[in-house]
Amino acid sequence: MSFDLVLFGGTGDLAWRKLMPALFQAFRHGTLPEGGRIIGVGRDALSHAQYRERIQSRFDKVELAKRPSPEEFSRFAALLEFVRMDLSRPEDYATLAAMLRERNAQTVVMYVATAPSLFTVVCEQLAAAGLNTPHTRVVLEKPLGHDLGSNRAINQTVRRFFEEKQVFRIDHYLGKPAVQNLFALRFGNALFEPLWRREHIANIQITIAEEIGVESRGAFYETTGALRDMVQNHALQLLCAIGMEPPINAHADAIRDEKLKVLRSLKPWTTESLSSDVVRGQYAAGMSMGTPVPGYREEKGVDPHSNTETFVALRTEIANWRWAGVPFYIRTGKRLAGRDARIVVNFRPTPHAIFRSGANAGNQLVINLQPKDGLELHLLAQGQDMRGAKASNALAPVQLDLDFAKRFGSERVGAYERLLLDVIDGRLNLFVRSDEQEEAWRWVEPLIKHWAGDPQGPRLYACGTWGPSASSAMIARDGFCWDEEN
Ligand code: BG6
Repeated sequence: MSFDLVLFGGTGDLAWRKLMPALFQAFRHGTLPEGGRIIGVGRDALSHAQYRERIQSRFDKVELAKRPSPEEFSRFAALLEFVRMDLSRPEDYATLAAMLRERNAQTVVMYVATAPSLFTVVCEQLAAAGLNTPHTRVVLEKPLGHDLGSNRAINQTVRRFFEEKQVFRIDHYLGKPAVQNLFALRFGNALFEPLWRREHIANIQITIAEEIGVESRGAFYETTGALRDMVQNHALQLLCAIGMEPPINAHADAIRDEKLKVLRSLKPWTTESLSSDVVRGQYAAGMSMGTPVPGYREEKGVDPHSNTETFVALRTEIANWRWAGVPFYIRTGKRLAGRDARIVVNFRPTPHAIFRSGANAGNQLVINLQPKDGLELHLLAQGQDMRGAKASNALAPVQLDLDFAKRFGSERVGAYERLLLDVIDGRLNLFVRSDEQEEAWRWVEPLIKHWAGDPQGPRLYACGTWGPSASSAMIARDGFCWDEEN
């Protein structure tokens, strides 16, 4: 299948860090369909050869196992071209259109990896140049808006020129192998379904912890914050994956309909829950990976009096028959104690204890997203240590551990690689539909408004910790604790 992939923002950060390495991996794995061309679009005056050189030099920063040999790169580079464009000039779109017409590929992917302020203009200009044909697919990267209003405005513009089935809104968390395995676990096995409900589950915890700070993105992050950067999209998508009903089939709309229902069922915020069920934090100077690091307010591009949150912990519920009353906790932040993304499903303890056991007698299913990905089922078993009568009747924690890297090999398909291949093949299952996205914005909007009028600002936490202590206090009010506090 021939395809042209046009990468707006072809010299930008995302292209260097994620997209080119992912495209190269697909090329190396032999999964990138043959007959493809990748066209980088940027403002610089670069020849095809200069663009290829730039990309090659960036591969030096990619981990060794994923770096191409010179011979491999030269075969990959044969797919790469560059076109200089000023995204506001219609003439430049006419040049692009001519370039695409020459080849007349079966599929044309427009990957808009630019500042969101350019989405509208790019879509309008593509349409004006006749580039919104039925063979065109548009990929939009987050952030898709700043709030519900701006998200709707983007979606409305895109809808004027493209049908929903042509629009691929990326949430790269959906491309992570562990998230796909969560779907497989839930809907490919009958084992957990009867247990997957309020009668058996005490609470669910979603943690996306990062060790890094805002790095070079201080100015962007200042106007974004953790709620918009991570909760509105990645964390809520994980919540949907864990909380949704089984879809009627594996088609994109069947899956997305169910995710939408979860978002619509999220408990609405009240004045009370806005103050008791949400904690926002901001990192202060501390230690990270054994080195002293500055606080958020000292980062480049950040206001020294900034109230932007770098941490959010919240409690919510999915108000439906399956989940009524089960707390779902979400926690994400930068400069936390480690890079660790996982979902912990805490089952209820036995109704009547006949064995002696440790403090935490409940069973647990842990879905590890990163750094390693896999599943752990925590159980209690009879220890075989018979030294001393005391030990004989006590249960010991054990776990069934499925390490996906060991089982399926560490050369598995990365999130962007998977998602890019899905776009080229036209599979929408792992992309976010506009109504889902709007619903997620609708749900976070009361938080944004509440914080804007809250003089208290975020609570400070030292780098290298698990965030403000108020986050532990929040969960402790329900009689639970975060997983690492067990
Ligand atoms: C991005 C956020 O969407 O996800 C970043 O903008 C964050 O701030 C990143 O660092 C985390 O992604 P991953 O895959 O490294 O967990």
